[in-house]
Amino acid sequence: MVRFALLGATALQATVVLGALTSQSLPARDEELRLVKTSEEDAGTWMTEEQKFEQLISKGIHFADITDTMSNLQTWTNAMANFYNRYYKGTYAATSAQWMFDTAKSAAKANSAITVKQFAHSYNQPSVIAAIPGTSGEVVVVSAHYDSIGSTTSGRAPGADDNASGVVVVLEALRVLAEAKFKPANTLEFHFYSGEEGGLQGSRGVMQSYSRSGVKVLAVMNQDMTGYSPNNVIAVYTDYVDAGLTSFLQKLVPVYTQLKLATDKCGYACSDHGSARDAGYPAAYVCDEGMADSSPYIHSANDAVSTLSFPHMLQHAKLTVGFLVEGSYF
Ligand code: BES
Ligand code: ZN
Repeated sequence: MVRFALLGATALQATVVLGALTSQSLPARDEELRLVKTSEEDAGTWMTEEQKFEQLISKGIHFADITDTMSNLQTWTNAMANFYNRYYKGTYAATSAQWMFDTAKSAAKANSAITVKQFAHSYNQPSVIAAIPGTSGEVVVVSAHYDSIGSTTSGRAPGADDNASGVVVVLEALRVLAEAKFKPANTLEFHFYSGEEGGLQGSRGVMQSYSRSGVKVLAVMNQDMTGYSPNNVIAVYTDYVDAGLTSFLQKLVPVYTQLKLATDKCGYACSDHGSARDAGYPAAYVCDEGMADSSPYIHSANDAVSTLSFPHMLQHAKLTVGFLVEGSYF
């Protein structure tokens, strides 16, 4: 069987699902500010309904009101960054883990077939795994770590780019597929790992356990940092990954996103894809930038929400949904 082939039919299905990323049904009130963009490159401008009419509609300028999708990504990102830190052995390890568990359940609530479970580790911050059950007996995974670290283990660490940004992208993919009642052939899993900053520990625990119990994982797409991109790219990393899955992922970028593809290497197993690979599973790694231009604020008190681009993160969410819909038929 051909693995990692780009399927036109499923791309069409993905387009239907992707529509949900921009169509939530909150009623717009006149006095509210709405986030509006006039092109895919436009980062967005906040304006009132009146301003939308005066500046855009009356002039025949095409635009999209992206307020409601943005608010999902933003609400979750703010909640994560509001933990003083999410250090895996720190004071907020357990409370941040509870938030992760509750929020994954809430993102999945539209489809009662979806399971959400905690995966325990030796420290007090379980990983969280949501699954949309399939019929094939095989599994496709998207992942992101939710722990953070500051300049000291007890220091302030909002971890906005690293890696609230990856977590909310995966949550948003879970939400739209749940609301679409998407029925995959392969089981789709959404992994939210703890202990990454302590040496890929959460992902290692999960992946070693999967390998011991013979879980058939076809592909893992890891996202660590999705919101800081001065060059406006999606960066696919090419070391410590599976070459076939990585070249497949590179093909998806122009199909599901408006961003330029970049490639780079970490030079070491810099995130949770390393654990999947160590366990013998094909893994790929997607980031918001190449190493040189990636956020200079990570692992400090300055890795703040204000440094993120939510339109950029939405592009990662589209890629994630595309990957999952394609991956459901690998
Ligand atoms: N998100 C980083 C890795 C990263 C940094 C990727 C910059 C791309 C650009 C990750 O959370 C991290 O900090 N990893 C550690 C290694 C890990 C094994 C503890 C690192 O890079 O030092
Ligand atoms: Zn980090």
